[in-house]
Amino acid sequence: MIIKISWLASLLLVFAECRYEPNWDSLDSRPNPAWYDEAKFGIFIHWGVFSVPSFGSEWFWNYWHSGSKSYVDFVKSNYRPGWTYADFAKDFTAEFYNATQWTELFKDAGAKYIVLVTKHHEGFCNWPTNVSFNWNSKAVGPNRDLVGELANAIRKNSDIHFGIYHSLFEWFNPIYLGDKARKFQTQEFVNGKTMPELYELVNNYKPDIIWSDGDGGVTYKYWKSEEFIAWLFNDSPVKDTVLTNDRWGSGTMCKHGSFLTCADRYVPGKPLKKKWENAMTIDKHSWGYRREAKLEDLLNMEDIIQLFVKTISLGGNMLMNVGPTHDGRIAPIYEERLRDFGQWMKVNQEGIYGSKIWTSQNDSLTSDVWYTKKNDAVYAFVLKWPNNNQLALGSVIGRQGMTIEMIGYGSLSWKSASRGVIVDMNIPAVKLPCRWAWVLKIKYPRRKIMKMTVIN
Ligand SMILES: *[C@@H]1O[C@H](CO)[C@@H](O)[C@H](O)[C@H]1NC(C)=O
Ligand SMILES: *[C@@H]1O[C@H](CO)[C@@H](O)[C@H](O)[C@H]1NC(C)=O
Ligand SMILES: *[C@@H]1O[C@H](CO)[C@@H](O)[C@H](O)[C@H]1NC(C)=O
Repeated sequence: MIIKISWLASLLLVFAECRYEPNWDSLDSRPNPAWYDEAKFGIFIHWGVFSVPSFGSEWFWNYWHSGSKSYVDFVKSNYRPGWTYADFAKDFTAEFYNATQWTELFKDAGAKYIVLVTKHHEGFCNWPTNVSFNWNSKAVGPNRDLVGELANAIRKNSDIHFGIYHSLFEWFNPIYLGDKARKFQTQEFVNGKTMPELYELVNNYKPDIIWSDGDGGVTYKYWKSEEFIAWLFNDSPVKDTVLTNDRWGSGTMCKHGSFLTCADRYVPGKPLKKKWENAMTIDKHSWGYRREAKLEDLLNMEDIIQLFVKTISLGGNMLMNVGPTHDGRIAPIYEERLRDFGQWMKVNQEGIYGSKIWTSQNDSLTSDVWYTKKNDAVYAFVLKWPNNNQLALGSVIGRQGMTIEMIGYGSLSWKSASRGVIVDMNIPAVKLPCRWAWVLKIKYPRRKIMKMTVIN
């Protein structure tokens, strides 16, 4: 009898555990929806009132306000006396914003998810909201629901997952500053602004990623992050598909959430136990659009492919940022980067989407060779063309029947060496399937399964 009762109790416990509790232990125990690890590549979009001055960075207001000389001078020489940051908002016009065109571009780039800034630290909301009076894109500037338009276009025209970025704090919001003056013993800002916004965004736009940021150095208890995520995972309309990052209050970064971002442009030295993401930006100095950016300030294709290959070999996803202009364009130089990247992805995708980390991440003999695996194949990403067309792979053990092919070209011959193998990459240049990096698919012969007869 006692045994029976405890069996029943443990059964109940199993059922009870299907709901997550508002604490990190419970929230972190949730298995990630599989789509995210398979996706590998997403696009980050920083768009807001900062896209109007489009000078310096998306931190424009903060730097200007704190007296940073180049920002102070910029405003003094270009705007009338008494100009305020709020005055920029009416010029956030978005007249060329076509969410269907953006969607086509992101599809062409090979992105499987996007993360759109809905509100940065400046507090401007890119959707009509009840809790940001006169400081949202419906009330001032575009007079449009920028978030809703992209969410709809993405869903209608692609299988890309829609995600949102949202800043918990706002630099200059008086309600936030009021809580701060009371040493965060009150939560007026969280209750009246941050949380209503997050619930509104999830209920209205059903994002599959909540990319939180801007904790202001305040704890996750103040932000009520655990309660929100518990609702997200248990009861929200996206409970089966959604993931969150790790920026939910001081002490959470690089520790809690569905995936870790740790720092901007983060790439760890070795694989991590938890899923992680490298959030990086094509403009080395800014996430928002900067009119004064020079060509040399942008990552080139070699830089981008190298970062991406390293990221996926180490088990990460890459979230690559573009900053649209105030009038809703993605400037041609960014468009070119995205389309070039997409072309390369199209050729080499079989070693990318849905791949896993292999036993070696980079080759033990030749630098700039990184690995992934999928099903029964190993993929070697060769970032630098080998001297004399002979590529030494120290991490690959040659075995009879092993085949090596360059994706998009065909099979290559190889021979065993004292360490690993040497692959003959003597290929006419016109036959190369792509630029920037080439992918070798290595397949071992299936092992014969010995049949054993069991004699009774
Ligand atoms: C937006 O772009 C799509 C695709 O190019 C086009 O078919 C559509 O007419 C555009 N919409 C507007 C309002 O310009
Ligand atoms: C704003 O409030 C009104 C009235 O309470 C409600 O009908 C509407 O759905 C709310 N809007 C959003 C975006 O939540
Ligand atoms: C492999 O990568 C690690 C980490 O980036 C690096 O320290 C090491 O030198 C690389 N090995 C080779 C052979 O390039």
